[in-house]
Amino acid sequence: MDTRKLGTQGLEVAEIGLGCMGMSEFYGSGDDSESIATIHRALELGVTLLDTADIYGPHTNERLVGKALKGRRDQVVLATKFGIVRDPDDPTKRSFNGRPEYVRSAAEASLQRLEVDHIDLYYQHRVDHDVPVEETFGAMAELVSEGKVRYLGISEAKPETIRRAHAVHPLSALQSEYSLWTRDPEAEILQTIRELGIGLVAYSPLGRGFLTGAITKPEDLGDDDFRAHNPRFAEQAFAANMKIVDAVKEVAGRHNASPAQVAIAWTLAQGDDVVPIPGTKRRKYLEQNIAAALLKLTDDDLKSLAELPAPTGDRYPNMEFVNR
Ligand SMILES: NC(=O)c1ccc[n+]([C@@H]2O[C@H](COP(=O)([O-])OP(=O)(O)OC[C@H]3O[C@@H](n4cnc5c(N)ncnc54)[C@H](OP(=O)(O)O)[C@@H]3O)[C@@H](O)[C@H]2O)c1
Repeated sequence: MDTRKLGTQGLEVAEIGLGCMGMSEFYGSGDDSESIATIHRALELGVTLLDTADIYGPHTNERLVGKALKGRRDQVVLATKFGIVRDPDDPTKRSFNGRPEYVRSAAEASLQRLEVDHIDLYYQHRVDHDVPVEETFGAMAELVSEGKVRYLGISEAKPETIRRAHAVHPLSALQSEYSLWTRDPEAEILQTIRELGIGLVAYSPLGRGFLTGAITKPEDLGDDDFRAHNPRFAEQAFAANMKIVDAVKEVAGRHNASPAQVAIAWTLAQGDDVVPIPGTKRRKYLEQNIAAALLKLTDDDLKSLAELPAPTGDRYPNMEFVNR
């Protein structure tokens, strides 16, 4: 796979990464041995960027990734995140913490769970509006100077916050949702990060699986599946959003490709500073997704995809949770 640079600080990764979140939570049950085999297969296929966070599980996803990386640490650009705190009695309840002392304790805990001595890319997962971002990034910058973290990132931040954090310590990546049905970063965010020289790690590039066409009805999603409570997957929105999938399938048909491959190839075509991290817990999907690096969409394809209908429904049940 080709590589792409994220930011100007020297971070370089294979152009398609692997999102590990769904291996532990949010998208139905998984099988740890298949998840670990998926991570190993990803490394064989040239993936370098692996994405996790302390809240996935909570905590179990970092442990799983750490287990998979035994003896393979040096092949990986390991990214994790802190800043969302889940209530131990009810993990659906969340708050934010960007206090400097919390940054340090969260990083130490992630290092332990991952069983590594440094994190390659450390993101503030969500900005804490009660703590100036300068204080949070001051603490993160200390972790860099101590060698515990190599590069810094921020997730779902708005342009002004990105600028303030970047002024404290140069950011290598913004991680935000970006896909054929979530074009939100195009309004202002892409322009800001390009001006500052920050890369975009595009999360949920498959629209949380919707754009692949594999989910055909809301009842496919169990009650413990995050998507069952996501407005875009609600019954009426689902039917309307199927028109987007149909249009993606039409482009896929022109190339004898899958809709998932078109969705990933589209993110790759948005600029060489964009790195998608499609998530899967299965080798079968992983292999298909990595092959998207070979799919070159034509101008006609990109024109058809630019004309997709806007999605119905917000991308999160609570939109205060994003663009902070
Ligand atoms: N920063 C943030 O706030 C944030 C938020 C969400 C996600 N993320 C990160 O971004 C990563 C990727 O996003 P995501 O996992 O939310 O969504 P995604 O990559 O858009 O979609 C993942 C879903 O698509 C399915 N899938 C994958 N490849 C497929 C294929 N070829 N055919 C059919 N279905 C396929 C997966 O199924 P299986 O699970 O059955 O394999 C999974 O249900 C996450 O793993 C996480 O690391 C970050």
